[in-house]
Amino acid sequence: MITINRLYKDSSRTVLVWDGFVRVFHWSIVSGFLLNRFIVEDNNALHNWIGYFVLAMILLRLLWGFTGSHYAKFRNFVPGMKSLITYLIDLVNFRERDYQGHNPAGAVMIIMLILLMMTICISGWMMGLDKFWGEDWVEDLHYYGSSGMLYLMSVHAAGVFYASFRHKQNLVVSMVTGRKSRQRENYSTRSENQSLPVNHTG
Ligand code: HEM
Ligand code: HEM
Repeated sequence: MITINRLYKDSSRTVLVWDGFVRVFHWSIVSGFLLNRFIVEDNNALHNWIGYFVLAMILLRLLWGFTGSHYAKFRNFVPGMKSLITYLIDLVNFRERDYQGHNPAGAVMIIMLILLMMTICISGWMMGLDKFWGEDWVEDLHYYGSSGMLYLMSVHAAGVFYASFRHKQNLVVSMVTGRKSRQRENYSTRSENQSLPVNHTG
């Protein structure tokens, strides 16, 4: 029985999947969101600065999605319709494959999280502009957007815990260390660069 410590240090068993930027990006947008939603008052200038910081991290992540490391690149994890549907059918039949990077359903959730977070930050910025001053729909977008984010976050976290349980590896720890278990077998569903699935039953 391998301990978590040994597993995450042993590079013959694990692969560095999430580079440093992806990890810092992830935990900083999570903290920024939680701070602005629950702790920092909206009449405090810090609220705006935290929001701008989150937006800046997202813009950098979008750039990183074209220029960054292998598993961070969009072309290596944004699924085609066919691989998404196949994955969802496999998921409901409890035979979904494990992926070295993001799985197709996780990838769709990630795109939604990024888009919603951008909407929240941009609507916050718009509230301060003369053109949108006092516009209810902008305030509603900001408020209901941040409530919607709580739901998306819960579904995202539930997906992470479920996948961790199914594939017997702690994905939250992976988002801290960057390392995931090395895949035993590759199934390329779209291209050589696709975020490769792992078959743990094989
Ligand atoms: C505001 C809340 C959250 C947002 C906006 C968010 C956003 C994201 C994004 C954008 C990614 C993709 C990372 C990348 O490739 O750049 C991701 C992945 C991930 N997130 Fe979150 N996240 C949130 C909350 C959480 C929480 C609470 C957890 C802990 C359970 C979590 C655990 C993970 C893990 C483990 C991954 C990697 C999934 C995989 O292995 O494919 N996230 N998240
Ligand atoms: C992580 C991103 C953000 C989150 C989670 C967030 C969340 C919230 C929440 C929950 C409220 C309270 C809404 C209400 O009670 O009506 C609020 C209000 C506000 N936020 Fe944000 N916010 C974020 C980013 C920003 C940004 C980037 C700005 C501007 C640069 C901003 C400006 C404001 C303003 C001016 C209000 C007061 C709105 C009013 O008077 O009703 N926010 N925000």
